Amino acid sequence: MEKEKKKKAEFICSAADYRDLPALSGQEFAILGRSNVGKSSFINHVFENKSLARTSGTPGKTSLANFYRVEKDMFWVDLPGYGYAKVSGSEKQRWSRLISSYCEKRSNLTGIIWLIDIRHIGVKNDLEACQWLVRLGKPVFPVLTKADKIGKADRIVQQKKAMSVFNLTMEPVIYSVKEHSSRALFWERFEKWYRGITGDDN
Ligand code: GTP
Ligand code: MG
Repeated sequence: MEKEKKKKAEFICSAADYRDLPALSGQEFAILGRSNVGKSSFINHVFENKSLARTSGTPGKTSLANFYRVEKDMFWVDLPGYGYAKVSGSEKQRWSRLISSYCEKRSNLTGIIWLIDIRHIGVKNDLEACQWLVRLGKPVFPVLTKADKIGKADRIVQQKKAMSVFNLTMEPVIYSVKEHSSRALFWERFEKWYRGITGDDN
């Protein structure tokens, strides 16, 4: 992947169910995290395109798996959030079925970008997700979102806390959609991680 150039992404399709997923193609990266953690905002911010993914102040905005082409052979998949209590029972079931079947069965799923709210490290839903991710065994790239909501010193404290609470092998990236510097830092770390998990030297 090239470095300095602005990254582009285009929307490809949405799927409400495992059966609706597009044909297997290239490498896929899932964006996983609690409802309202900032998954869709993160996608828009890293690609500098506000109209790519729909965001909302109300949890439960993304209800489908949305596919974006990032490079010729790389796709990112914005998933519904987990852990939102106010979604109806059957809808919640569909979401968690979609998330788990997609992540467990999709053979070209190469890695998971896991978003965690920097202010709330170790909440029950994230601890459960963490155990599930360990069982899943796919490479995980952790990102701590909404960093602008806390001070600089606290960010480091929370970063260390996340590493120990979730037993992470890599330092999570501290991210804020209100700070330009987050984007460059993310891409630098993501590309390094990507090369590490795929052995791609480009
Ligand atoms: P669901 O699709 O409902 O699971 O939510 P999501 O994880 O996609 O979250 P979304 O991107 O819709 O953002 C939720 C809310 O958090 C919105 O009001 C965003 O503006 C806000 N938000 C996201 N990232 C940041 C951030 O870095 N800083 C601040 N201050 N707010 C953020
Ligand atoms: Mg969303």
